[in-house]
Amino acid sequence: MPKYLNPYAAVNDADLLSEAFARSQDERDPLSSLRAEFVIPTKGDLRNRRYGPVGNQTTHASSATARPDDHEESVYLCGNSLGLQPRRTREYVNRYLDTWASKGVQGHFKPLEGGHPPWLDLDDALKEQTARIVGALPTEVVVMETLTANLHLLMSSFYKPTPDRYKIIIEGKAFPSDHYAAQSQLAHHNVPSSALITITPPSADSPYLTTEHILSVISQHNATTALVLLPGIQFYSGQFFDIELITRHCHSLGIIVGWDLAHAVGNVPVKLHDWNVDFAAWCNYKYMNGGPGVIGGLFVHDNHGKVEQTQLDGDPNHINHTQLVYKPRLSGWWGSDKSTRFRMENEFIPIPGASGFQLSNPSALDMTSVLASLDVFSLTSIEALRARSLRLTAYLEERLLRYGNKTPPYKIITPANPAERGAQLSVLLNPGLLDHVLNYIEEHGVVVDERKPDVLRVAPAPLYNSFWDVHRFVVIFQEGCRRAIARTGSGSAETTNGAS
Ligand SMILES: Cc1ncc(COP(=O)(O)O)c(C=O)c1O
Repeated sequence: MPKYLNPYAAVNDADLLSEAFARSQDERDPLSSLRAEFVIPTKGDLRNRRYGPVGNQTTHASSATARPDDHEESVYLCGNSLGLQPRRTREYVNRYLDTWASKGVQGHFKPLEGGHPPWLDLDDALKEQTARIVGALPTEVVVMETLTANLHLLMSSFYKPTPDRYKIIIEGKAFPSDHYAAQSQLAHHNVPSSALITITPPSADSPYLTTEHILSVISQHNATTALVLLPGIQFYSGQFFDIELITRHCHSLGIIVGWDLAHAVGNVPVKLHDWNVDFAAWCNYKYMNGGPGVIGGLFVHDNHGKVEQTQLDGDPNHINHTQLVYKPRLSGWWGSDKSTRFRMENEFIPIPGASGFQLSNPSALDMTSVLASLDVFSLTSIEALRARSLRLTAYLEERLLRYGNKTPPYKIITPANPAERGAQLSVLLNPGLLDHVLNYIEEHGVVVDERKPDVLRVAPAPLYNSFWDVHRFVVIFQEGCRRAIARTGSGSAETTNGAS
């Protein structure tokens, strides 16, 4: 792999490793102020076994378990799993509760001064902002259902196996839910399970998949493949795939391609419309900060969302002689024309675009929560966030690479090329260290997530994480590594590194 110049590589140890350096990076970045939009759990909140923040409880402060750093902000670098709560979410959800309490069913359609749009119109209200985040036209996106359910719904429209083309290509380490979804789609269509083709890395030592390798596997199966389903960012390695190039390659071979953007949305800029992506789906609970298990979103390219009326033979003025032509789908009443939805007639008239794929009356509570999070995104742009994210992750990388004058007892398995990763770095620890390191860092108020047996995923989310967070993480993490090595006697890689 070529070497990529880290902008922090030129900074000497005395500066780079200091807290003052991290603080100065935060001070000079105008986006640092967005952190104030979020509730950052304190270390005491995380240690506390009772429900709710420590600050709300009367008994905890005086308890024997109180610790001096309980009121310090925790080091939360886990937005790749569950984003933190925007402060405004509580206010928005309270407004939703007030509307429900005071208006009942009228909350669906009655415009209210100082309130949010009526629940019936919330899906439209979310489109513009969602579209900006994923590089789509507002008609191409909709907030609905959840990620795996949406992948199934989309595959029900886009995976149409024929005797010639029936294979689905995914990557070998696809998130299990995607694996199950693809497998069960094959079974649903009575296609043998051997038609699931998995792209695995050429080398067992690294999870990295070169674009050339991905393209070559697709080419190898070109005549028999109906669908390629890939992640925008791989959940384990953090690799950001070349969505544009892979999509173009699939289309040149007549293959439909869909993207699971769980780890990409709100993390990296994507241009789903311009890149001609056929379909995509995502969740709103990771970098989108909508709340645990909240309603997800999907994209259907304009090319596939059209609803056209064709004239049948006979009297051209008679309504019964026209027919709607649209992409077949599993449908429900919420995907049908809004103006006639409540007439309770049996003709399905799909809303043009992604909205026509909706099934059910969506949870207004969920949509309110997503609205709060989108309103935070609207305070900046995804491009500005990306610029900050590149700096934050480069700083994290450079700090991790410096481990005194020793070889670190871990290696970063996320690509070194900034264009091939988002916020997350995945750190592969030497065998036997993970549990000890994890215990130590959790004890010290750090939240990252683990992938057994040896990987920690560390994700500085540019909306709320600071350089100071990264500094504190690396100090605590590296101390955890030293202690784990001392305790286990393992991590024999901690030998003096003659190079530096
Ligand atoms: C890449 C990826 N795909 C699919 C899922 C499943 O999402 P859901 O449970 O919302 O369907 C996840 C969940 O974290 C994920 O990370």
